[in-house]
Amino acid sequence: MKRVYFLLVFSAIGMNTYAQKTIDQKVTELLSKMTLEEKVGQMVQYSGFEYATGPQQSNSAAVLEEIKKGKVGSMLNVAGSGETKAFQKLAMQSRLKIPLLFGQDVIHGYRTTFPVNLGQAASWDLDMIEKSERIAATEASAYGIHWTFAPMVDIARDPRWGRVMEGSGEDTYLGTKIGLARIKGFQGKGLGSLDAVMACAKHFAAYGAAVGGRDYNAVDMSLRQLHETYLPPFKAAAEAGVATFMNSFNDINGIPATAHQYIQRNLLKGSWNYKGFVVSDWGSIGEMIPHGYAKDGGEAAEKAILGGSDMDMESRVYMTELPKLVKEGTVDIKLVDDAAGRILTKKFEMGLFDDPYRFSNEKRQKEQTDNKKNREFGREFGSKSIVLLKNQQHILPLSKSVKTVALIGPFGKETVANHGFWSIAFKDDTQRIVSQFDGIRNQLDKNSTLLYAKGCNVDDQDRSMFAEAVETAKKADVVIMTLGEGHAMSGEAKSRSNIGFSGVQEDLLKEIAKTGKPVILMINAGRPLIFNWASDHIPAIMYTWWLGTEAGNSIADILFGTMNPSGKLPMSFPRTEGQIPVYYNHYNTGRPAKNNTDRNYVSAYIDLDNDPKYPFGYGLSYTDFQYSDMVLSSASLTGNETLNISVTVSNTGKYDGEEVIQLYIRDLFGKVVRPVKELKGFQKVFIKKGENKQVHFRLTPEDLKFFDDTLNFDWEGGEFDIMVGTSSQNVQTKRINWVK
Ligand code: NOJ
Repeated sequence: MKRVYFLLVFSAIGMNTYAQKTIDQKVTELLSKMTLEEKVGQMVQYSGFEYATGPQQSNSAAVLEEIKKGKVGSMLNVAGSGETKAFQKLAMQSRLKIPLLFGQDVIHGYRTTFPVNLGQAASWDLDMIEKSERIAATEASAYGIHWTFAPMVDIARDPRWGRVMEGSGEDTYLGTKIGLARIKGFQGKGLGSLDAVMACAKHFAAYGAAVGGRDYNAVDMSLRQLHETYLPPFKAAAEAGVATFMNSFNDINGIPATAHQYIQRNLLKGSWNYKGFVVSDWGSIGEMIPHGYAKDGGEAAEKAILGGSDMDMESRVYMTELPKLVKEGTVDIKLVDDAAGRILTKKFEMGLFDDPYRFSNEKRQKEQTDNKKNREFGREFGSKSIVLLKNQQHILPLSKSVKTVALIGPFGKETVANHGFWSIAFKDDTQRIVSQFDGIRNQLDKNSTLLYAKGCNVDDQDRSMFAEAVETAKKADVVIMTLGEGHAMSGEAKSRSNIGFSGVQEDLLKEIAKTGKPVILMINAGRPLIFNWASDHIPAIMYTWWLGTEAGNSIADILFGTMNPSGKLPMSFPRTEGQIPVYYNHYNTGRPAKNNTDRNYVSAYIDLDNDPKYPFGYGLSYTDFQYSDMVLSSASLTGNETLNISVTVSNTGKYDGEEVIQLYIRDLFGKVVRPVKELKGFQKVFIKKGENKQVHFRLTPEDLKFFDDTLNFDWEGGEFDIMVGTSSQNVQTKRINWVK
């Protein structure tokens, strides 16, 4: 008895000591038990076999065997409580029973899909964006997923690049704020909570600056530009504790990002002191061979690990090459220990060593399969993402009792397309998605008629449906046209050289307009499109992106005025492809064009205006907002003072509504030239009709800092323009002097 008591106390003390060990100690202890192959195994990620998000290599049987041998650290594209459990069981057969991490592209929602990310960015609503990721994390984690490959925080100024749909647009400030909101939403109360997933800041770095907007293409830019425009969202993500980073397919000034020592070792793991791990993009380690940066798999593996890539997604070179490289002394084992250690740390933080199956729970999965509250949120988020571009004679909102409405266009009865790109897991899940037709029908009065004609396909030359569409339009009092790009026309590998309406959509629009019926145009897209004819001839235009599961309801809420549009463009919309890249925060140049008529020896096109068709920050409301003169706390400041800026915004129209009030600055002279405008703050406020709200902003010298040509980050005293307004083009300006 005495002996049993002694043993119990002794083992309790033992357990206690184990529990009290820090994760660092546990990782070191575990690493000390691991063979080289097992350590490298942690650095290997394979895709599941049901669907792929890249050029998949087969050989599934071998992968299963490798998992059992502890030679795989993570799987992507394996989801569902049953599936993840089955894979995890294999890992539990390995010598050290190290659990797998399950990663997935949870990009704009999971079971409930939300607007594509660029559309979300148009909401300028950080709370909603965070909440949407909270929901996505709750749903995804209930399906056994530990890790999302999001947020994509690539700044992008080229709408030909299909991946703009996954980012937050062209602006560094807005993109950084949105990235942070997403990370907060995904990681919730912290890694280890059952409803949190590890986030991943991607694609490190400068993937959004691919030459010509062609996906996977080269990036060539000054380090100053890189630091000032492209890196801030990543640095902020690292500081906010994002669990992982993903590097990018592109090279940066001749060195593939995957092996970029300056980017990944000096900056990320060096001066930024980042403790999470870096996963390669799909196959990007092996792709250094066609890049012309590595002559074979061995050199690719060596350069990738030296460059700071911790996990190999689907290149399959770490597994085959790294053990050899370490044994022959080419790669220091310390690099392998460091990489494997970073990955194991996350597995401990996620609680997977305590229970490898803790996220694979059927009951939780069931609860999140069709969550009504999440859908209600998605409906509201959808309507907040819509941008009203034009509304002549207040044609919108429509009365619900219009006698006959015609819905015309290839997206009217679409279901799956409303998901948008990156909704891989639920493509066939058509019943839950609200079509635009159903959404409108749900809100139109019972006695009103909703007619429908497809009119044309998205992307071919077939005009055989035109006649029926015209006849349908003639029978209606108002026509709603739904045009744009198919959901698989923007996204990864979806670069387009021509970003107008594809096929015969514009011709159909012209035919319908000829009927003389009032036309409202809805544009479905994942990127800015070019639609000049429509802009110049159609009285009302709404940019509806791809809105997700509740798309039809969100659209109808705006059409009928249940919701007042409040979205603002997160990217400039070009007039032609020849104007790309066009972005609001450009430099002035030595010969700025003063207006659109004088094009002689100035920085302009002889055949095109410089300004975009629709500017960054632009979007209309059903109501009217009037801005008072802005009030500054002082016009001359010194040192570390704070500039307080306030403005009163009045809702003078007929509807309650939300306005996004934007603050820009211009640093007039500097040791490097500064942009004509830089966003430094924004607030989205709800103002009831007839009421007003005072809005306050603060600026400190921290907000004035920039990178000079030696990459020194500081501010300079001098004159600044302070601008407040309703879009990047519509602002009031006051000048101040700030002495350092
Ligand atoms: C390639 C994409 O670039 C990346 O964003 C994605 O996370 C991976 N494939 C995995 O699907």
